[in-house]
Amino acid sequence: MAPVLRLRDLGWTVGGATIVEDVSLAVDEGEFLAFIGPNGAGKTSLFNLISGLVPATRGSIGLDGTDITAEGVPARARRGLGRTFQTSSLWPAMTVAGHVRLAAQAADGGSYRIWRRARPYTDRVGRVLERTGLAGRAGVVAGALSHGEKRKLELAVLLVGEPRLMLLDEPMAGVSAEEVPALTALIRSLHRDEGRTVLMVEHHMDVLLGLADRLAVMHHGTLLALDTPRAVMADRTVQQAYLGEAL
Ligand SMILES: Nc1ncnc2c1ncn2[C@@H]1O[C@H](COP(=O)(O)OP(=O)(O)OP(=O)(O)O)[C@@H](O)[C@H]1O
Ligand SMILES: [Mg+2]
Repeated sequence: MAPVLRLRDLGWTVGGATIVEDVSLAVDEGEFLAFIGPNGAGKTSLFNLISGLVPATRGSIGLDGTDITAEGVPARARRGLGRTFQTSSLWPAMTVAGHVRLAAQAADGGSYRIWRRARPYTDRVGRVLERTGLAGRAGVVAGALSHGEKRKLELAVLLVGEPRLMLLDEPMAGVSAEEVPALTALIRSLHRDEGRTVLMVEHHMDVLLGLADRLAVMHHGTLLALDTPRAVMADRTVQQAYLGEAL
């Protein structure tokens, strides 16, 4: 069986600087692969390449055995590839339900006209809000949510498009310590109970060790190591390059 995602010698050079260099890896269906690495290592840039936000300047990206290197974000989304962003991508004055309804319309290839044909989306929006623990917050504007609720809403916006492969870029960033366990449990459930394939950038090692099947370590734009969490933690090169600084 072909891997869900296969990167071959993937690279991104911009303005003369090579930000991502020769990254090759394969991700199996249902796998949880976590990315760690120092600030500026190229983790977000790699997610930008995989999701189609920036075009690869070298190498290729395969999804379910199809070369998607030349495809843009919408085409990749239609194939089931979705992502969240490191920094919040919400509209403060729009309600929770409004965000999810808009995302549902966008996922259907509809226009961004918010109120037209809103009713057919009510059930779908309700299900996603229930799934992410936001059902009681449907009418609240995003700006009034806690950081943890905002991150849940970003997941809800992603989930309404039913992605099979989810790229989560630091989904715990800015979240208070009390809200981390619930968010971790939600992400674990999306992976284990719903069988979604997950790629996730995260700095909190304690969160990752309970989630990830494998850890990928990025350093200066390259893939320094890719193995089980236990093996990566024991790798001396990794310890010198990253964990020594972070722990
Ligand atoms: N559009 C761009 N043009 C030029 N340089 C860029 C661009 N985008 C990112 N970079 C640079 O690429 C490097 C990698 O950035 P990236 O955001 O991918 O790192 P990261 O591993 O996600 O870091 P962090 O942990 O801080 O989120 C950084 O030095 C950044 O300044
Ligand atoms: Mg980043």
